[in-house]
Amino acid sequence: MYNIDIMTKPVILTGIRANSDLTIGNYFGAILPIIDMAKKRSNEYQINMFIPDLHSFTTPIDHSRLYSQSTNNAKLFVAAGLPIDNSNIYLYRQSYIPAHSELTVILDCFTGFGEMSRMIQFKDKSNTIGADRTSIGLFNYPILMASDILLYNAKYVPVGDDQSQHLEFTRDIAQRMNSKFGNLFVVPEAVKDQHEFFGKDQGLRIMDLVDPTSKMSKSDDSGRGVIFLNDDPAVAAKKVMGATTDDLAKINFDRDNQPGVSNLLEILSLLQGVTLQSVVDQYTGQTSYGDFKSVVAGEVEKFLTDFHKKLAEVDAKAVMVKLEQSEHDLKPIANATLLRAQQAIGLR
Ligand code: TYM
Repeated sequence: MYNIDIMTKPVILTGIRANSDLTIGNYFGAILPIIDMAKKRSNEYQINMFIPDLHSFTTPIDHSRLYSQSTNNAKLFVAAGLPIDNSNIYLYRQSYIPAHSELTVILDCFTGFGEMSRMIQFKDKSNTIGADRTSIGLFNYPILMASDILLYNAKYVPVGDDQSQHLEFTRDIAQRMNSKFGNLFVVPEAVKDQHEFFGKDQGLRIMDLVDPTSKMSKSDDSGRGVIFLNDDPAVAAKKVMGATTDDLAKINFDRDNQPGVSNLLEILSLLQGVTLQSVVDQYTGQTSYGDFKSVVAGEVEKFLTDFHKKLAEVDAKAVMVKLEQSEHDLKPIANATLLRAQQAIGLR
């Protein structure tokens, strides 16, 4: 029997890939929830925010930009409010802690081919990319993600709705290993309990402005329906004014029949920091989509202008010091989990 010896605080952990510029979907789906916790509850919880740079090229990217994007993302988190002067908060890059890769190789051998083939994100992405360009890395992606979570004994993992299936897989593989080898891993909370912890009734999924039936995604090629955190504020406002709506001419929150309008209502509530219900109550029944879009566009413009100002003020050197310090401090924790797994399966 190999027992987990964790005397530390419960861990809240999330990662955001650095494959492209980040979007407001990333911001509201994952960055803001963990930063809120970091600001309000870092005395009760350990906060791990990291850049999954190894995940970033599971689909083809421009490798000459990866390193600068990774460091830039770290700065974005600080601009979004991550307090890096707090020693309970860690900010790190996945590839700087080799245990992520090593645990993945181990978990690979306890994961079924069929199980991975059923992952929705894999099916979607591999369909878009085509079989010849679909990498084994993309197939393997949820296993690396499980390692990211299990290495640090994380309990809460704020992610957008599209990552829920990967979180459930993390629970499955942790439980499978625990029942086979003893108490190896902390099993993260179930998705429903995660939502409750973060004060939500469901996972967030911000939709594309041009095609509101699909997720707003940083890998979208045209970028017309995507609000990037580094968009010029005026350009982003124009994207909102050009958002697809419908011809029903009445504002109503109805994701099935009015996905565009519903998405804008959701975005507005997030930007204003108020409940969706209060925004829905305020706008339901109004008939001018133009006026409504102007309000959302104005909020987007204000949000980005403010965000860019904060980003310009971030001390790049302090961010680099924080990354290196966190990587140094977390290595022993990750290695301890790895060693438990290595001993359990007979490697040590
Ligand atoms: P990634 O980089 O694709 O996205 C980062 C986070 O942003 C969320 N997100 C959204 N939320 C709401 N609406 C959207 N339109 C939207 N688009 C993206 C994602 O759900 C995610 O939470 N596999 C992860 C990265 C990762 C990770 C981890 C996360 C690797 N290891 C361990 C947590 C724990 C990913 O690709 O996210």
